[in-house]
Parts: sequence; structure tokens; C-alpha cells
Amino acid sequence: MKFRKFGNTGESLSAVGLGCTGMSFAYGPTNDDESIKILNRSLELGINFWDTADMYGNGHNEELISKVLIAGGTSGIGYAAAKLLSLKNCSVTVLGRNKDKLKEALWELGGNVKGIAVDVCNADLLKETLSKIGQIDHLVIAVSGAKGAGLFCDLDLKLLREGFEQKFFPQLQTAQLALNYLNKNGSITFITAGSSHSKLIGTSGLGAINGGLEIMVPILAKELKPVRVNAVSPGVINTPWWDFLSPAKKEETFKQYAEAIPVGRIGEPEDVATIVETLIKNSYITGQVIAVDGGLSLGK
Ligand SMILES: NC(=O)c1ccc[n+]([C@@H]2O[C@H](COP(=O)([O-])OP(=O)(O)OC[C@H]3O[C@@H](n4cnc5c(N)ncnc54)[C@H](OP(=O)(O)O)[C@@H]3O)[C@@H](O)[C@H]2O)c1
Repeated sequence: MKFRKFGNTGESLSAVGLGCTGMSFAYGPTNDDESIKILNRSLELGINFWDTADMYGNGHNEELISKVLIAGGTSGIGYAAAKLLSLKNCSVTVLGRNKDKLKEALWELGGNVKGIAVDVCNADLLKETLSKIGQIDHLVIAVSGAKGAGLFCDLDLKLLREGFEQKFFPQLQTAQLALNYLNKNGSITFITAGSSHSKLIGTSGLGAINGGLEIMVPILAKELKPVRVNAVSPGVINTPWWDFLSPAKKEETFKQYAEAIPVGRIGEPEDVATIVETLIKNSYITGQVIAVDGGLSLGK
């Protein structure tokens, strides 16, 4: 059985002992024999346990806690990343504009995740928010925009400009203002979109917004080194981003995409979150744009 050090006490405990340490505060001092007794009793009571090695991976050290800020973490992809990272030994703070949505997200995410309601388009409020949060190790930027879609011949350039104001500039502004607080050994992960490279009819505007961000990624990785800079470029993902469609239209759209792409299904936010986690944790990846699109960008 492997033994690891428990962060707060320095005590050497097995995974079982670690899992039961919380219980020890109620039941008295913990060692492996005592832990197994407590575990058996707890299982009888219907309490579940996780082996921290399964959750955090080999070589995990309970003392290492990364601070992650997720701009746009109250729904969809950012929310899924917050959920995953908070289970993987990260202290997570999420940002979103809507206070009620933030409150609900924090309630669902549990006590380890903090949050602040702020519109990252507002530079002054964002600066104030960042100074409140202080130093961070990793930044994930998932704020979205939906304007700028449509056939080029009819494309309303005013709406396309708004699309840039909703996504391109807020993502860059968040990255730029957060630099002062970012650990030099940390990372920035942009959530862009497969419209940049999928060559789908009607997406030239969206492609320009997301392609603009993706083109900057390797350049920023060189300029901002040793901070690592990457992007995840999702395809069609089942999130509230699609709520502009009626439920029936959304279902039909998802069905059409699922039939057209190689993996035969729409993506889930968790499909993207696992790659966000990898880009944060793998210190040997920088300047990359990773497509998570079920093969959408491969075309017909
Ligand atoms: N879903 C897809 O199919 C898909 C495909 C490709 C790319 N993407 C990209 O993935 C990213 C995440 O989108 P999603 O699908 O997860 O959508 P989502 O569920 O709508 O999530 C967007 C998140 O960003 C927050 N947000 C938006 N604008 C903000 C602002 N100005 N300031 C602060 N927070 C802001 C939203 O909260 P509030 O509304 O409360 O502010 C929410 O937490 C976006 O960049 C999107 O373009 C999505």
C-alpha cells in the first residue's frame, strides 16, 4: 500500500487513511487500522469514498494547490472546467456577468469554488476584480459571443463588429490585465471555436473572430514565455450557448451535426474540460490550438 503525506498534519497515511482523515476529526486520531474500521462503519452508513490517487493521479502531492481563474465559468465549458479542476486539487474562482447564474453555479459547484460577478468587457471593473483575487497560477478564458454568423453577402458588419467586441476583445483584455497576477510558471488557455478552421458556409465572420485569437496563440506563447499560452478550439458542444434556438430547433440542429461528424455525436462540455485540464497541468505544451470537435473540421 502506498503512503503519502497529508498536507495539514504531515501525517503519513495510505489512500484509505487520507480518505478517512476528515472523519477523524469526528472520531478521534486516525491510523490505518482505525481508518479501516471507520471506513467499514461509514460504508454501512452508505457514505462514499474516493481514493485521492484516482482523483489526482500518480505522484500527487496533497500540499500542491493551483489557483485557477476561469473567466466565463458559470455555465457550459467554463463551468465543466471549474467542476473538474476543483476535484483535481485546484482552488478555482469563476467569473460571469449574471449574479443569479453565478449564485446557482457556486451552489452546485460546492464550497471549494469561489466566484465574482463581473463583465470582463469593463476594464475598470475587471482590474478591480483581479486585484481582489490576487495571484493566480492559471487563467482559462471561456467568455463567449454569438454575433457575426451568416452568409457573407448578407453579413451585417455592425453585428460582426459586435461579435468581436463580445469575444475577441474581452478574451484579449482578460489575458492582458491578468498578466500582472499570473504565476510565471503558469498558463493561459483561450477557448476559441472550430469556426476558425472548419470552413463551414455561413461562418466566415465567426471564423475571423476565433481565427484571430488562434493566430495570436503561438505568438503570445513566445512573447509571454515562460507563461504557457494555448487554446482549445471546440466544435459543436451541448451548452447554453445554443439557447438562442428553440428547444425543437436546437435538437434538430444537434441531430444534423451529430450525423455529419465522424464521431457521430455532439460534444459535451466535459469533453472540452478534460483538455483544458491537460493544458493547465502539462508544463511541456505551449503555443498550441487543440481542436475538440469530434472530427467536424475534417469536412465531408
Ligand atoms: N457551445 C459550443 O458549441 C461552442 C463551440 C465553439 C466554441 N465555443 C466557445 O466556448 C466558450 C464557452 O462557451 P459555452 O458554450 O460554454 O457558452 P456558455 O454556456 O454561454 O458560457 C459562457 C460563459 O461566459 C460568461 N460570459 C460571457 N460573456 C461574459 C463577459 N463579458 N464577462 C464575464 N463573463 C461572461 C457566461 O456567463 P454570463 O452570461 O452570466 O456572463 C458563461 O459563464 C465561448 O467562447 C464559445 O464561443 C462554444
